[in-house]
Amino acid sequence: MESVRTQVVIIGAGPAGLLLGHLLEREGVDSVIVETRSREYVEQRVRAGVIEYGIANFLEESGVGSRMRAEGLVHHGIEIRLDGVSHRVALSELYDGHAITVYGQQEVVKDLIAARIASGAPLYFDATVTSVDAQTTDEPSVVVSSNDGDRVISGGYVVGCDGSHGVASASVPSGVLRRYERLYPFSWLGILAEAPPATEELIYCRHPRGFALYSMRSPTLSRLYLGVNPDESLNEWSDERIWEELTVRLATKQVVTISQGAIIERGITPMRSVVVAPMRFGRLLLAGDAAHIVPPTGAKGMNLALADVRLLAPALVASLRDHDERLLDAYSDECLRRVWRAEEFSTYMTQMLHPHPSAEFENGVQTARLRQVIESEDTARALARNYVNLSSL
Ligand code: FAD
Ligand code: DHB
Repeated sequence: MESVRTQVVIIGAGPAGLLLGHLLEREGVDSVIVETRSREYVEQRVRAGVIEYGIANFLEESGVGSRMRAEGLVHHGIEIRLDGVSHRVALSELYDGHAITVYGQQEVVKDLIAARIASGAPLYFDATVTSVDAQTTDEPSVVVSSNDGDRVISGGYVVGCDGSHGVASASVPSGVLRRYERLYPFSWLGILAEAPPATEELIYCRHPRGFALYSMRSPTLSRLYLGVNPDESLNEWSDERIWEELTVRLATKQVVTISQGAIIERGITPMRSVVVAPMRFGRLLLAGDAAHIVPPTGAKGMNLALADVRLLAPALVASLRDHDERLLDAYSDECLRRVWRAEEFSTYMTQMLHPHPSAEFENGVQTARLRQVIESEDTARALARNYVNLSSL
């Protein structure tokens, strides 16, 4: 079997793996990125859309933020819609003038792939890591399977940036990693539609029939979500039904229609929280969704993934270049403190905005929480801080 050596083997070309490769490359550390999907697939995969203030700055400082700055939509507030009435949370006024940037995850991925290809550093698409050996050796390795056959890639470290169903964490012997998990009783049905966004800011809506979220990608593309039951499938949701339900949930007393257009992408995502700890097993490290999942209501998933590698890259550089392990030793604990904060915030947003189908008491408490955000400046300020910048606090 062909065998290749590098300094860091990175599994997965999502936001975490690609940014890690880029940051290492800037410091002169070699890496190989292995991605099971094709380039077209990862560049078209529609997922998150909100980039926090500190993470947007970091992308720019890292030399991969220029298109985001030019094309991303800077938002200074969000709307919360309750009982047909809109309430604005003035994010920037409440949090030191800072704002979020709405820029699709697949655009971040495109920018990072372009930077990688321009650098000439190895990035293999359509190549699947089938096993990871980080247990018994100072030189961990992975087996990669592709149309060209199998090969072994070894390095000083292997980093699992391979998402929520990855091989990296599964390769760790049982009993070493602890997995904390919670399932929520809803899923999100998400669509991308060729429709000009009806509003300038995101709308998070709590309606007796369920949650709805109005987001966007550009002046001509809307991104909308509906909270649905976890057992529902896309077959049950015709275009007419999706638009009807979005219209009913998002209607206000003044405006009862939303702009519609051709639906060009759709999917259903179950909502869950997962934390895997620790995020290190010897020379194997985990970053991004490979180590943690948050429910999407707080818009934290991609931000957390990028924040992990912001810490991990200098830690790997210090170890490989200066034999200084201190940053790597601190990596897991430091990430997990932020991850649990993000789990707390995402759970808070989720439980406040998704009416429970039957638990009336729970619904009373949720509405009271939402009213606090609307009526108390202190509560709104705490929400704004976490929404705009949690991953850099
Ligand atoms: P990923 O982006 O998942 O990247 C992992 C990569 O590893 C993938 O490209 C995968 O193909 C590759 N891979 C996996 N196994 C292997 C292997 N064995 N060999 C080689 N490559 C492998 N977050 C939000 O904040 N808002 C949202 O609206 C939102 N929507 C989402 C919708 C869906 C369907 C999903 C799955 C996630 C969503 N998220 C959302 C979460 C957010 O997109 C993730 O947090 C983010 O993608 C994490 O980045 P990552 O690089 O850690 O993982
Ligand atoms: C988007 C996704 C989210 O999970 C969220 O909370 C806000 C916006 C989006 O895809 O635009």
